[in-house]
Amino acid sequence: MGKKQLPVRHARESGHPGSRSVREQGLDSRLHGNDKPQKNLNSKLEVHAAARHLLDTVSLKKEWVIRLFEEAKRLKKEGIEGGKLFDDLKGQHAGLLFFEPSTRTKASFHIAATRLGADPVTVEVAFSSVQKGESLEDTVMTLEAMGCHFLVIRHGEALAAEKAARVVKKAHVINAGDGAHEHPTQALLDVFTVAERKALNSNLTFLFLGDIGYSRVTRSNVQLLRTLGVKNILVAGPPSLVPPEEELKNWGVTYVTDLNKALAQADIVHVLRVQLERHGQPLPLTPGSYREAYGLTQERLKKYCKKDVLVFHPGPMNVGVEIDREVADGPNSCVLEQVANGVAIRMAILKTLHASC
Ligand code: NCD
Repeated sequence: MGKKQLPVRHARESGHPGSRSVREQGLDSRLHGNDKPQKNLNSKLEVHAAARHLLDTVSLKKEWVIRLFEEAKRLKKEGIEGGKLFDDLKGQHAGLLFFEPSTRTKASFHIAATRLGADPVTVEVAFSSVQKGESLEDTVMTLEAMGCHFLVIRHGEALAAEKAARVVKKAHVINAGDGAHEHPTQALLDVFTVAERKALNSNLTFLFLGDIGYSRVTRSNVQLLRTLGVKNILVAGPPSLVPPEEELKNWGVTYVTDLNKALAQADIVHVLRVQLERHGQPLPLTPGSYREAYGLTQERLKKYCKKDVLVFHPGPMNVGVEIDREVADGPNSCVLEQVANGVAIRMAILKTLHASC
């Protein structure tokens, strides 16, 4: 709270034809058609944003994140590695509402809830009353009325989780990715994974490579890293998918055009998928030319990267486009650690929110 929210893209989800590049679109406000960025929609929600719900990373305090990581570490050791099942959330229901496709986030929330003794309730959106025109708000209120204590929501529209949080009475809303806005649980598991491997300090250099403008993963990671005191954050990718300089300045990141030089500086490289589903227009690059210009190829890794560089990808990967198979499966890759830590972090999130009120 009190921190600057990174602007968000709305190309597809706002019904915008998406025909302009990220650079041309310039600064977007958080709300459609509103020039003034609004920090939060509801002051009451703001007070509870970090406690009862997990809607974004901008509301998170460093101390909260550190406590969450300690909890995740313990749950990983005792629960996941030690095989212990917990009953902290016995008798509770966790509604999983995914309006967009998901493998990792959905499955790991399911496993996390089960490991804590809660029952996951998966709403198959494609076969739900949403197809009959039911609104997000009505769907959320319906699930809460049935007794769902948690509502994990992934939606194509920015601020969808915030919308849901405004209509629930007691349930905890968790943002599992809202349009091109935020993906806080992914950022938390990413940073947790980095912290397991390297001391998180201001000497580390992070590079985010790919579709920066439409990546909710980048936006949430950058905000979280800055909260934790990381200063050296570089971004690289096709110019049409990188926000304008002015906007990047607000993010506190540096756009680099010489990819090889950026790779040589990076301690952690986050490779990102091109979010074609949000562009509304084809990318003016073939998969082959994308790989050549922006892919983390085995050749680039060997030639330019530090020996102990950590390679991250939130998945799903387009292998052979943004990342080579040898890199994704190689010794520098943290891809499966990210996935595994997703369960521990999401267990810690459910537990922490439950304990909050
Ligand atoms: C990401 C997402 O959905 O934003 N994936 C994920 O949650 N593991 C990234 C992506 O889809 O490219």
